[in-house]
Amino acid sequence: MPLVPKHIQELQSYKPGQNIAEVQRELGLDRIIKLASNENPFGPSPLALEAVKQNLKENFRYPDAAAILLREKLAEKFDLSISNVTVGAGSEGVMSAIMRTFLRQGDEIIGAESSFIGFRVLANASGNRINWVPLKNYRHDLEAMTKCINDYTKLIYLANPDNPTGTYFTIDELDEFMNRVPERVLIILDEAYFEYALQLDDYPDSMHYRYDNVITLRSFSKAHGLAGFRAGYGFAHDALIENLLKVKLPFEPSWPAQIAAMAALDDTAFIEKTVRSCKDGKKNMEMVFKEIELDYIPSAANFLTLVFNNEEEAGSFSDSMLHKGIILRHLAGWGLPDCVRITIGQKSENEYLIYCLSEILSEA
Ligand SMILES: Cc1ncc(COP(=O)(O)O)c(C=O)c1O
Repeated sequence: MPLVPKHIQELQSYKPGQNIAEVQRELGLDRIIKLASNENPFGPSPLALEAVKQNLKENFRYPDAAAILLREKLAEKFDLSISNVTVGAGSEGVMSAIMRTFLRQGDEIIGAESSFIGFRVLANASGNRINWVPLKNYRHDLEAMTKCINDYTKLIYLANPDNPTGTYFTIDELDEFMNRVPERVLIILDEAYFEYALQLDDYPDSMHYRYDNVITLRSFSKAHGLAGFRAGYGFAHDALIENLLKVKLPFEPSWPAQIAAMAALDDTAFIEKTVRSCKDGKKNMEMVFKEIELDYIPSAANFLTLVFNNEEEAGSFSDSMLHKGIILRHLAGWGLPDCVRITIGQKSENEYLIYCLSEILSEA
């Protein structure tokens, strides 16, 4: 079709994890547990849910295009000025605005291979040249990424912790990286899972590492449990934010999403419960994996990725789990065909997963 540019014709669209209704229909199972998309197993923040219910009648009006209330609340919470804050329909909404705002024809992008697939789709759709740098031991190879910088490099994307590996880079590693990157290069520092990583002493919470060429991205989809609402935010230098706000879709996030996000920011008890439960669940799962000698990638996020001997083993594991009613994510589409990612669920869900795991192993 001549109307469609070549890079769009060749684009592979984002393939989300299977949903519960689909699997129920296909396999006729009563109980399905979805541990495939790193959502919060406790559902939405209760404060957010209540606030949305109270505000339903307001939704015949367009939301505030500048999302002043939400941006003010974020600024207050993170001790910034509102001119340093943008918001969007999920952090991917902000990511998309960044690509549209700052990339010109001829600019080049650097990203880590097998990192967050949403960025890969946006980068490929931009039509700009991209240098994908392989992971090293499942971690961002920051040194190799800086070695790829050339006169045309405009944007580098880093996810910390990364998805789907869950690995993170440390304060020292980020400092060293930033020393090597020229200020004319924009960095997206995607911290969608920062709530889970903050407890690590050497995790670089980017709020304490402000650089004029860094845009920090964060999400309400993970620890706050608001993935379906679509709300995310970004922090950066005022000059970057001012221009991002010109390009962002005027009414994103939707009004229910803004209401939910504001209330969720106050729900510190829910975040604490979420992070604590994830930590315990991850620890238990790791213990079991060690016991049965299943390889996994240590993770700073709300999921663990298992490493099998080959693609066939990984695919068959994920398939067997599906037939027992547990949806996991086989990572072939990420370029990690021997890996399967497991989102940490509620205690009973994790226990059922471990039960199914031992059944599958004994059947084998
Ligand atoms: C690293 C990373 N960044 C961004 C996102 C997207 O988050 P949002 O739902 O806020 O668009 C995800 C979701 O899986 C992710 O894993």
